[in-house]
Amino acid sequence: MHLKNILNEWILIFLITFLLTNVLCGQTAMINTSSRDLVSLNGEWNVIIDPTGIGEWRQVWLEKQLEKKTDFFEYSFEGGPTLKVPGDFNSQMCELTYFEGIVWYKKQFNYSLQKGKRLFLHFGAVNYLADVYLNGEKIGSHEGGFTPFQFEITDKIKNGINSIIVKVNNNRQENGLPGYGYDWLNYGGITRDVNIIETNNTFIQDYSIQLKKGSLDTILGWVQLSGAKIEQNITIKIPELDIAFETKSDENGLSKIEFSSSFELWNPENPRLYHIRIESETDSIDDKIGFRCIEVLGNKILLNKKQIFLKGVNMHEENPNLGRRAFSQEDAQFLLSAAKELGCNMVRLAHYPHNGYMVREAEKMGLMVWDELPIYQHIDFSDSLVPAKMERMLDEMVQRDKNSCAVIIWSLSNETYSNSPNRDKELIELTKKCRAIDSTRLITHVINTQEYKDNTFDVQDTLYKYSDIISINEYLGWYVPWQGNASDTKWKLVCPDKPVFISEFGGEALFGSNYGPIDEAAYWTEEYQENIYKKQIEMFNTMENLCGISPWILFDYRSLGRMHPVYQNGYNRKGLLSEKGEKKKAWYIMNEYYKRK
Ligand code: GCU
Repeated sequence: MHLKNILNEWILIFLITFLLTNVLCGQTAMINTSSRDLVSLNGEWNVIIDPTGIGEWRQVWLEKQLEKKTDFFEYSFEGGPTLKVPGDFNSQMCELTYFEGIVWYKKQFNYSLQKGKRLFLHFGAVNYLADVYLNGEKIGSHEGGFTPFQFEITDKIKNGINSIIVKVNNNRQENGLPGYGYDWLNYGGITRDVNIIETNNTFIQDYSIQLKKGSLDTILGWVQLSGAKIEQNITIKIPELDIAFETKSDENGLSKIEFSSSFELWNPENPRLYHIRIESETDSIDDKIGFRCIEVLGNKILLNKKQIFLKGVNMHEENPNLGRRAFSQEDAQFLLSAAKELGCNMVRLAHYPHNGYMVREAEKMGLMVWDELPIYQHIDFSDSLVPAKMERMLDEMVQRDKNSCAVIIWSLSNETYSNSPNRDKELIELTKKCRAIDSTRLITHVINTQEYKDNTFDVQDTLYKYSDIISINEYLGWYVPWQGNASDTKWKLVCPDKPVFISEFGGEALFGSNYGPIDEAAYWTEEYQENIYKKQIEMFNTMENLCGISPWILFDYRSLGRMHPVYQNGYNRKGLLSEKGEKKKAWYIMNEYYKRK
């Protein structure tokens, strides 16, 4: 099929998805917000904590005024507590530590919008449900705690004082993503940056600028304008390469990009980024973009046509020292530096899209990124709303990170069960959609339902047929005792020709624990964890199609289901580092292995 038709079909799919999502639930967020004309609404927000949910009945967003002497209100944003935004609410007030419920946030700001300008209210993320009001009027809602969303407020903004109220609800949802059960703290709140973004009437809404699939020198992409005057001349400039590619946007505001050049390709040793400038007749935007080619060849992963072993580590979006959701550039630099120190060239951002700083900093630091959707363990795939929610979250994740050369893998699910109704059908469908909107990256599903008998793994799952790499979580030595020598472990794989990635392995240890014999699991000793790592590496050395690994997990992290008062105290202790950053014995085993790899 001629390339032009592929491009037309691809753009058509993208356009339909784009229009559908924008109409149904608020607009897909514009990308690269930090390069836009924005006013930050970060800071202290007034809040009303609403454990009973009565705020809805009281219509707190109306902020009714006293009119007659008999009037009184049993709520007010004034005189009450404030919470920092961005930030989860659980770590900010002791009484909210375990809180799962509704908190109303209010922020006032002064604004005067010039004629011919447009205005957008942009959220980096709100966990989990957000109902957003401007000046007492509902402007929209969003579901999902880990992806950006926005609302156009051009016709709703007042010149002068404006009031935003957000009803944040982090109650678990049966048909939610994730569902009821998950092994991390359910941090609620307005957890990422909030910005007011001003644009010209017609502006550069979105763009995709990356190497064509399998190419080392050809850019294939597009620019999407939004506004009245959408048929314009567009120029893509790469000053360092003296490139100024000219194109035109069509009646839908879409312009196609295709040109070749010799790029210094991005890789972990040389995380080369180029200054890119996109100019239209009514707007311009600057970005830093790197170019690399990631693909699978047989059971190998190739980066820029050379085989690469993924030296990964799992991490949650949590600042371990402060015991709160990570949200800032500094948090990202801290977490990613620890991964670099361990010897990693890749990070698995578990189990949901982390904030944009994580991806941007990883790109600068030469760390490849695994992005994942919170389709985690028990998902109700037979609920009629779930497929659309999955697709929307996929769009939002790919939308935000598609120009990031660090992102090499889209992981669409973790430990879902093949026997749950509709799981295969819905996840296969989602995989096809993901491949339709971005076929330049690897796609996978993480499975832990493999059989393990007679020291032999039998890895069978339908989803592997649709995945580029076989991703397996296995906890031999912790949840599952070894059934023989680690170096004798055998593997029966449903797709023996595909690369195998061990996406989770490990065990727990409390830093400095010497509560009992080191060869017994019950005392959380570092030696016991260290031994698990030694044996796992023995096994890895026998696997010929192993393309990479990522230990569970870099830092001990908060998870309320981990209740042993001495060894856990609300922490999953599988970290190679304690929450204070103390190196456990297993850390040195991993570091040594990565040095040799
Ligand atoms: C699972 C899961 C993780 C969890 C880990 C554990 O495999 O994917 O989210 O934290 O096991 O049990 O520690």
